[in-house]
Formats: sequence, C-alpha cells, structure tokens
Amino acid sequence: MKVNNIRGTGDIFGERLKKFQLIQDAARSISRSYIFTEISTPIIEYTDLFIRNLGETSDVVNKEIYSFLDRSNESICLRPEFTAAVVRAFVGNFQHYPLPVKLFSVGPIFRYERPQKGRYRQFHQVNFEVIGVKSYNSDLELILLAVTFLRRLGVNFTLEINSLGCDSSRANYRSSLVEYLNSYKNELSQDSLNRLEKNPLRILDSKDPSDKKVIENAPRISEFYTEKSRENFLAVLKALEEIGVEYSINEKLVRGLDYYSEIIFEFKNSELGTQDTILAGGRYERLVNNLGGQELASTGFAAGIERLAEIIQIKQEDQRKVISIIPIGERAEQKAIEIAYKLRAEGFFIDLQYSANLKSRMKKAENSSFAVIFGDEEIEKSIVNVKNMKTRVQEKVALSGLLKFFEPS
Ligand code: HAM
Repeated sequence: MKVNNIRGTGDIFGERLKKFQLIQDAARSISRSYIFTEISTPIIEYTDLFIRNLGETSDVVNKEIYSFLDRSNESICLRPEFTAAVVRAFVGNFQHYPLPVKLFSVGPIFRYERPQKGRYRQFHQVNFEVIGVKSYNSDLELILLAVTFLRRLGVNFTLEINSLGCDSSRANYRSSLVEYLNSYKNELSQDSLNRLEKNPLRILDSKDPSDKKVIENAPRISEFYTEKSRENFLAVLKALEEIGVEYSINEKLVRGLDYYSEIIFEFKNSELGTQDTILAGGRYERLVNNLGGQELASTGFAAGIERLAEIIQIKQEDQRKVISIIPIGERAEQKAIEIAYKLRAEGFFIDLQYSANLKSRMKKAENSSFAVIFGDEEIEKSIVNVKNMKTRVQEKVALSGLLKFFEPS
C-alpha cells in the first residue's frame, strides 16, 4: 500500500529543515532581546475560539478551517493562526502579570487553502504578540522588531502600512463604501458581490481587474479617521522615517482577519511571485475582552517560515571541518569508530562511511574537505591515507599525528 502525504503538506528535511531552524533561531533570539516570553499553545483548540474572533466572514473561518467533531461531539479544530490562541492563553495564565505581556510562539498552522507555491495547508509561523499597550509606540517597536528579524535573515523586503482607524470611524467608512459599491454592482466580480454585505472592506484588495477599476474612485479610509487615529498613524510614519525604515502607505491594505483596528502592516518580498507576503500583522483592541479578559489594546504579527525559507541563503557548514572516514576491511572498520569518536570530540564533522564499494564512498566524500582512507594493513602500521578533496593530493599520516594534521595550530 502506497500512502502519500496530504496535499498542501510536506516532509521537511535536509537544507530546507536547516533553513527552518535558522529562521526559528533568529526569531527566538530576537524575541529574547525584546524580552518576550515563549509560549507553546496546543495545536488543537475549540473551533469556536476562531469563529468568534477571526470573523465569520473571513476566508480563514469561512473556507479554510480544519474542524471536526471529536469523540465527545465537541467541535475541535487545528489552529488556523496563533493570535486568538495566544490571547486565550494570556487570559488563562497571564492576566495578573505586569503589562505589557509579550508572547512569542512558533509552530505549525493549518488552513484548507488551494495549495500553490508559497501557500500550503500545513505551514509554520513565528508569532509575536504584545498585549496591553495603548500607545502606538508598541506598533512602532514591533515593526522595528520585524525589520531586525528580516535583516538578520538577510532578506529583502518592502513594508506596506495602513491604518484602519478606530471602530466607529471604520463603521462610517464601511457604510460609505457600501453605498458607493452598490452603484457599481454590475461591474463587480462575483467574489466581491458576495463580500459586499458581509465584508466590503476586503473588496479593496481584490485582484480582479474590473473590481480594481471600480475601487480606484471609491471613498478612501483616510478621509474617515478621527483626529487621534490620524495623529497616531502619522507619528508612527514619522518615527519610521527618522529611524531610516522605508515604507509605503497602501490604503487598500485591509488584512483578512476581522480583529484588526488602527495600524496594520505587511512585509513583502518580490522574489516570491503571487504569495509574496512574508510577515504581517497589526493592532487589535477587542480580542482580550472578547475572550473574557479586560479591555486591553494589543498588537502583533506573524511571519511565514515556508516563504522565508524560499528566499534565505544559508552558510555551508564549515567545510574545512567535514571529513569522510572510509575504512576498508573489518579491522579498519572497527578502528574507524574510534578515529571518528576522537575527531568528533574535537569538533570535526565526521561522515563515517560503512562498507559499500569504494567508488561510491569516494563519490560521497566529494562533499567533504578530506577523506581518510585506510585498510587493515594501514591499521597494522598505525597510519592512514588522507586525501585533500580539493587539491586531490593524498598523503600518508601517522594516526598519532592525525589531529595535528587537521588542526595544525
Ligand atoms: P496572516 O496574514 O494570516 O496573519 O498570516 C501571517 C503570515 O503567515 C503570512 O504573511 C504568510 O507569510 C504566512 N502564511 C499565511 N498563510 C499561509 C499559507 N497557506 N502557506 C504558507 N504561509 C502562509 C495571521 O496569521 C495573524 N495571526 C498575524 C498576527 C499576529 N496579527 C496580529 N498578531
């Protein structure tokens, strides 16, 4: 019986896994320097947690959530994001901690999406939430954290930023937008018509050419900001300029999840094609309260590890230190274990090759800087042959001097 992996999921190994680890390590190390606490929440949660907080009309809830009834008839899901789960965990565990509480997480996320390059059904995020700061300075601090993270990984990015304004100004904007769009119903795509009543702001980021034309002259969200929202947005932009972080304002940026208000942002990378958002987030002000906590303004973001892994370069292991050991014969094989043990203890990376034909073993050794080759006869004389795989020069080295040979100083 041949069983394949589920569409949109994949096994991660080798170079790609190394990249995943590098991304996670960078995120974790930066989270520590910003004094975040790491939290690992369960992969399964009550479906309701996400339905009630991400918005019933959001794609994630509407079409993408992996939910099922468990054996006690509870509706359970595989988490489709971290934020609602982390806020649930905050309300349960951190309410009495001094604010802000900063929580970092990493792990798999599940969405029943149409798989394509950069879009999977199981993918991984690193996620940062800062809970309990009203000031826009926490948005700024978090954007700078994101910049540090992406720069540390050496990836190119552009930053798009927008403000959704406060809840009441957004409600006014929504009515005005619906009124405008209603007069262009014939020109809107079916998707946008479906969204018109339930989630009209999402129409703004439609990729459909006819929708785009209609949207060009639609009322703009910035016309509806309160004085306070405008001031906060401008203050963040000014600070970014002063610190030297380039950005562009994208008034059509709305984000796909319902909990956002005020400042939202997305970091993109042009090498990725259509799925080009590598990191995204923004402010949310009702989630903690919705989940049974106090009214606490919060802000956060998540970055997609798969997308970052596509674009980062990793340094090869210190090649000088990778050595293949190729014993020929039974005694030699025995001795090889000891030689490998000693070299590994000194920090060398040892590819210990067990019996196979010599040709295929020498081929494998091409990835190393040296090959140490010996038979039972050599072991008798306590010598080995060391071949420099780059210069192709081979010489005899006494076993007692092997370590010195590799580490002359
Ligand atoms: P999101 O925009 O849904 O936001 O996802 C964040 C990032 O996860 C995306 O920018 C992308 O890099 C990656 N991503 C999303 N879907 C997929 C997929 N199907 N395959 C591969 N990568 C994907 C959130 O999840 C919010 N919870 C972020 C947040 C945290 N907002 C506030 N706090």
